[in-house]
Amino acid sequence: MPALATSDIIAVIGAGAMGAGIAQVAAQAGHPVRLYDNRDGAAQAGIDGVRRQLEKRVARGKVAQAEVDAIVSRMTPAATLAELADSRLVVEAIVENLEVKRGVFAELEALCGPDTLLASNTSSLSITSIAAGLERPERVAGLHFFNPAPVMKLVEVISGLATDAEVAETLYATAAAWGKVPVHASSTPGFIVNRVARPFYAEALRLMQEGAAAPATLDALLRQAGGFRMGPFELMDLIGHDVNYAVTRSVFDAYYGDTRFEPSLVQQALVEAGRLGRKSGQGFYDYREGAEPVEP
Ligand code: NAI
Repeated sequence: MPALATSDIIAVIGAGAMGAGIAQVAAQAGHPVRLYDNRDGAAQAGIDGVRRQLEKRVARGKVAQAEVDAIVSRMTPAATLAELADSRLVVEAIVENLEVKRGVFAELEALCGPDTLLASNTSSLSITSIAAGLERPERVAGLHFFNPAPVMKLVEVISGLATDAEVAETLYATAAAWGKVPVHASSTPGFIVNRVARPFYAEALRLMQEGAAAPATLDALLRQAGGFRMGPFELMDLIGHDVNYAVTRSVFDAYYGDTRFEPSLVQQALVEAGRLGRKSGQGFYDYREGAEPVEP
């Protein structure tokens, strides 16, 4: 199947860390992009954030200002879901909660034409469940980017039980046309990467809770000796503990409480305290201005 045409409108729902990044990827590929978020001002803030990130690259001579202006001019904030109706593809990147996502997909089905492809950036939730109950579940698939979306190459294209093979192929070709490295996966809990990554976080959290070493030491060790680009604690801080905890819970529940995937009370406490990681200024590390760097 061919990729979507660059004249096709791409809509992104959720202008958080992932949604804004996915919108940037589509705009960089030449598509007109509409970004919607149900928090007032969040879609415009997402676009402003993309501009700021790109302008840092201008300052380093990596990209021309005119190119940045062109990319940002292709991104438009949408004030309502209805403004996404004529999109060719909608990528949902909202909170990791099955019921909330199902509600959004039901609204999209009522608004969009029959040819609109509906994709979710969910990290772990069943694509089969997200699509169930819709009149046309065959046009729903997972399109799972990694954080930060403009940088990370891998994209999982996930088929649920009802997903049409042509829909998955079109998304695969489109992700490739956007400069990504797509991989097909079926809708198992956590798909491929998050399934393999769960024990990476879980064992690191157990080691910390058993007093083996502090997060900074474990991060440094895994970077230096394990060859990982980021250690587990700094990666969890980047992902956001609200998101990571929800993903852990969803994979744990989906595997009937398999202890390999058991969420940690430390993660839960960080969420309860609002220490969500980089995005809130504090997580395992302190990102607030003037905070002392932690030595391993
Ligand atoms: P985030 O918390 O940074 O952003 C979520 C955004 O969605 C917020 O701006 C929020 O206002 C908006 N939102 C929530 N409910 C909404 C609704 N009903 N309608 C419209 N907007 C709504 O979350 P993040 O990190 O961007 O994650 C989004 C999705 O992407 C989740 O499903 C997550 O599992 C997945 N994901 C997250 C990754 C990460 O590293 N953070 C990596 C890959 C996937």
